[in-house]
Amino acid sequence: MMPETNSEHASMITCTAPVNIAVIKYWGKRDEVLILPVNSSLSVTLHQDQLKTTTTVACSRDFQEDRIWLNGKEEDINQPRLQSCLREIRRLARKRRSNGDPSSDVSLSHRVHICSVNNFPTAAGLASSAAGYACLVYSLSRLFGVDSELSLVARQGSGSACRSLYGGFVQWKMGERQDGKDSLAEQVEPESHWPELRVLVLVVTAERKPVGSTSGMKTSVETSTLLKYRADSVVPGRMEEMISAIRRRNFADFGELTMKDSNQFHATCLDTYPPIFYLGDISQKVIGLVHHYNRHYQETRVAYTFDAGPNAVIYTLQDYVQEFVEVVRHFFPPESNGGEFVKGLPIGRASLSEELIRAIGVESVPKGISYIISTKAGPGPCMVKDPDFHLLGPDGLPKKST
Ligand code: DP6
Repeated sequence: MMPETNSEHASMITCTAPVNIAVIKYWGKRDEVLILPVNSSLSVTLHQDQLKTTTTVACSRDFQEDRIWLNGKEEDINQPRLQSCLREIRRLARKRRSNGDPSSDVSLSHRVHICSVNNFPTAAGLASSAAGYACLVYSLSRLFGVDSELSLVARQGSGSACRSLYGGFVQWKMGERQDGKDSLAEQVEPESHWPELRVLVLVVTAERKPVGSTSGMKTSVETSTLLKYRADSVVPGRMEEMISAIRRRNFADFGELTMKDSNQFHATCLDTYPPIFYLGDISQKVIGLVHHYNRHYQETRVAYTFDAGPNAVIYTLQDYVQEFVEVVRHFFPPESNGGEFVKGLPIGRASLSEELIRAIGVESVPKGISYIISTKAGPGPCMVKDPDFHLLGPDGLPKKST
C-alpha cells in the first residue's frame, strides 16, 4: 500500500506494535553488533488493547535531519541501534527498488521524523524496547515499501523486538550464520490458536532499579558457565517441547516449562559474576504462592515468568483466572482507595475457601503489588488508517497532546 500523504509536505504512516513476554528466554549474545543470540527463544505476543507502542513516521524534503521523539521527549537519533534500523530499512528499500518493485514512491534521500508513545507507564517496568523497535521498523517498512526480512532489522534494534513483529506464539530462531541472515522470528501459532490462555502482569512496587538486560547479558556471557550449558544443552530440547505443548494446548506442559525456564534464566543471573538479582522479595513470594496454589489442585493451573525486573507475568487459563486474581488480592491486599487494582480485561470477584487460603499459607504483604494488567495473546503490528491518530502534525513536529 502506498503511504498516504496527508499534508502538502510529509508522507506519514502510523502503526502500533505489541509487547511480548518470553516463555523460553533469550539471554546472551554471540554477536553484540548484529545482535545474534546464544540460544533460540519463544514468546507470547500480548494484546495491544492493553499494552502497545504507537509510532508515527514522516518523510519530507523539508526535513533537515532525522529526528526522534519518545514519550514526548526528543532523543538522540545517533544511538547506534536506531541508526542500524534506519540504515537497514533504507538498504532493503533500495534493494527492492533496484529490483524494479517500487511499492512506495517516498524518496529514500529525504530525512525522517519519528514520534513514538507507549500506552503503559514506563515505570511499570515492562520492557518497552521490544514493542518500540518492532513498531519503528514496521512503520518505516510501510513508509518505504518493504515487506520482508523485517525481523532481521528489528533484531538489530533490540533482540526481543524481532518477536513483536508477529502475533500469537513466536519463536526467534538463533540461526547459525555469522552474518545473521538466518537469525529471525517466525510465528508458531496465531493468537486464535489458544483463546482460553490468559495473561496477568503483576506490577510489583519496585525496590530498586535493576541492571539493564543489554549489560546484564554481556556480563553473563563473559562469566557464567551455567549460561553456556543452558544455551548448548538445555534450550534446544526445551524449544521443541514448548512448541509441542503450545500446538497441543497442553497448559500443564506449557506452564511447567515456562516456570523452569524463568528459574534457569534467573539462576544464570545468579551465576553471573558479580551476580545479578532481578527477583525481589515480592517476586519470590509470588513464586511460592503459585507453587502452593498448583499443589493444592495437584495440577499446574498457573505459571509465572520474570524478565530483567521484579514484575511477575502469570500465564493461566480462563477457568482459573478469577480465583487466582482473588488469591493475589488476598495475599497482597491493595490500598483500599488506591485506584483500580485490576486494569485491562475485566475480572469478576470470587470467594476463596478457607482450605485454599490455608493451603497457600504465605505471609501477606499489603500493597506489595501496585496493580495487575489483565490481558491475553494478541495480534502483531497494525497500521492505523485514521489520520487523526498521527502523532506528528503536518509540520512534522509532535502534536501538542503527545
Ligand atoms: C529477559 O531484547 O531487551 O526479556 O537485545 O540487548 O536489547 P537487547 O536485550 P533485550 O533482552 C530481553 C531479555 C529478556 C528475555 C526475553 O525477552 O527473551
